[in-house]
Amino acid sequence: MRLKALHILLIKVVIHLAALTPVLLTYWQAVNDQLGGDPVKAIIHFTGLGAVKLLLISLAITPLALRFKQGLLINVRRLLGLYAYFYAVLHLASYLIFELQFEWGLFIKEIIERPYITVGMAAFIILTSLALTSTKSIQRKLGQIWQKLHNWVYLAIILAVVHFYWSVKSGILEPAIYAGLTIILLSFRKQKLSLALKRRAKNKQKLKK
Ligand code: HEM
Repeated sequence: MRLKALHILLIKVVIHLAALTPVLLTYWQAVNDQLGGDPVKAIIHFTGLGAVKLLLISLAITPLALRFKQGLLINVRRLLGLYAYFYAVLHLASYLIFELQFEWGLFIKEIIERPYITVGMAAFIILTSLALTSTKSIQRKLGQIWQKLHNWVYLAIILAVVHFYWSVKSGILEPAIYAGLTIILLSFRKQKLSLALKRRAKNKQKLKK
């Protein structure tokens, strides 16, 4: 069966519900003291992992659409990517508000001195630039540059998983599973990635000459 516009609309409604309900529930539980002994840690964990999961799901859309010949499925990619960014914003905001209590000096110090925060920040900057350029009109205006810019999502997911791995104090099984999923999803883009890298190396050589 080929998915039609109505199916895509329904899938989008499900994505909205599945992404927003747990956020509301988690913050509601935090306000009502139902998140265990360390609610700040629980919120940072939930939002950080949520961002990684949504990024991975958004990266799974293209291979799925190609495998099952469902062209319209591509239309849900942007929504998933924006929700990944929404979770990343909540993650960073929760850290800044609840853990650092808006101590901007300390935040800068953490970015400089803690490599896992530096890497998280780099992932966040990439996701911000992708979210800001995600509209159809900007996509049309930027043309080929847009595609090049949005290929940075591959680096963002790698940085996010490295940040995850580095941030856990014990039990590397969970980050290892997400690293494995990232490798599988990036392997579908092997050709595209090696072409881009070759092109970059060629351009560098040209500049040297
Ligand atoms: C400036 C940006 C960021 C900051 C300051 C930040 C900060 C943190 C902190 C403080 C932790 C908890 C470490 C601990 O338990 O002691 C953490 C964990 C984590 N972060 Fe980030 N993060 C940032 C960006 C990101 C982004 C962009 C993602 C995903 C796309 C992400 C995903 C995660 C994940 C999955 C964890 C592990 C959660 C856990 O198991 O507790 N982070 N981050």
